[in-house]
Amino acid sequence: MKSHQPKKPRGDREGALLEEAAALLPASARHATASAESAMIIREGRGPRVFDLSGNEYLDYLLGSGPMLVGHAHPMVLKSVTAALERGSSFLLPTEVTVELAREIVRSTPCAERVVFGNTGSDGVIFAIRLARAYRRRDKVLKFEGAYHGQGDALLMSNQWTTAPADFPHPVPNSIGLPEQVREEVLVAPWNDIDRTADLIAQYRDDLACVIAEPMQRTLSPRPGFLEQLRELTHRADVPLIFDEVVTGYRLGYESGQGYYGVTPDLCVLGKSLSAGHPLSVVAGRFDLMKFAEGARRLTGDYVSLTGTYSGNPISCAAALAALALFREPDVYPKLFERGRRLMQGCQQAFDSVGIPVQVTGEPPAFEPWFADHEIVDFRSAQKSNHALSSRFGQALLERGIMKAHEKFFVSIVHTDEDIEHTIDAIQDAAYELARA
Ligand SMILES: Cc1ncc(COP(=O)(O)O)c(C=O)c1O
Repeated sequence: MKSHQPKKPRGDREGALLEEAAALLPASARHATASAESAMIIREGRGPRVFDLSGNEYLDYLLGSGPMLVGHAHPMVLKSVTAALERGSSFLLPTEVTVELAREIVRSTPCAERVVFGNTGSDGVIFAIRLARAYRRRDKVLKFEGAYHGQGDALLMSNQWTTAPADFPHPVPNSIGLPEQVREEVLVAPWNDIDRTADLIAQYRDDLACVIAEPMQRTLSPRPGFLEQLRELTHRADVPLIFDEVVTGYRLGYESGQGYYGVTPDLCVLGKSLSAGHPLSVVAGRFDLMKFAEGARRLTGDYVSLTGTYSGNPISCAAALAALALFREPDVYPKLFERGRRLMQGCQQAFDSVGIPVQVTGEPPAFEPWFADHEIVDFRSAQKSNHALSSRFGQALLERGIMKAHEKFFVSIVHTDEDIEHTIDAIQDAAYELARA
């Protein structure tokens, strides 16, 4: 077993900044695991590594919650962004890169006939739902329990942080401060349960604006046939199907989750990996839905407003063009999948070897070990897993210089074979520790 460097104690500067962050930034003093002692201030990121202010180095599988699929400070992204910065940051009007990026998104994304830019995944989702509502002239949105679709009022319901789920199809707000009537607009179905979903679509068909799903919900892959049947049901009901691909977009392949699973939605939202850590999101889809955003309609009233001061700004678009060029290089996705697969297997074997039941769900570029001996297929089965053990695992890895998201691992295209082997050793070492405790 390879040894890992012991973590350096927190330095005075980092300690002082963390105190200030805790006082000044109620929402933003976030850390990789749930424990306060693991909070840190990041000094910088390079490739697959991040460094904290006290000089600790971590192999990064948090990747900024996913977007850094190309790793940190990638030279090609830096070059593209620096060149763009020298020509000005924001014009409201499109630049060459805005159009080039739209062209490449239409080329690469099966559902994309037209493109609208936003700045965050949350506003991309809000835009997509607004388009669907305009098309259907209906308000209700059907989502799946445990899916996260960002911070828009209507979608901040029954997500993965829900503690007390309600009977289907009633939503549970994940925040206070949401207007009471928003609850009336949201219906919740169990993920991966096509019969219950079909019943809800049939029952509410006349009120539904859309059905929205993450094609891989968090790290819960769709059961074979689930997305296909969902596509068929929504198509027959003429209810737009939206894929929220903020995580899966360009992570599961150059054609995103819709290409990977072979199911084409009516609209999709892309974000995160698309722009290598620069604020950008995309709503793309069928022309007869997207057309409502055309500026010429403004005077007719038959118009969906989807604008933003920074939407399609040249800096984010230049970053995205550089990222997409990297994703188009030969073997990028096969290597990403191969390394992710080795990590998934390494994780499974490490816990099998110490007798701790674990199930690793997801796809190689984004996966998650659940501490449970029952099958994990939806929010409720996931909720019954051992979250305390999961947190301890995250903490044990952090102490060994491996950083990951709360539960899941995001793999990047710049993690090397050596990084993967090192990580598997650390996972095995952490598994021994957890088994001993
Ligand atoms: C599937 C999904 N949709 C939407 C969002 C919201 O994106 P953002 O945080 O960029 O607003 C997220 C963020 O994690 C996400 O995972």
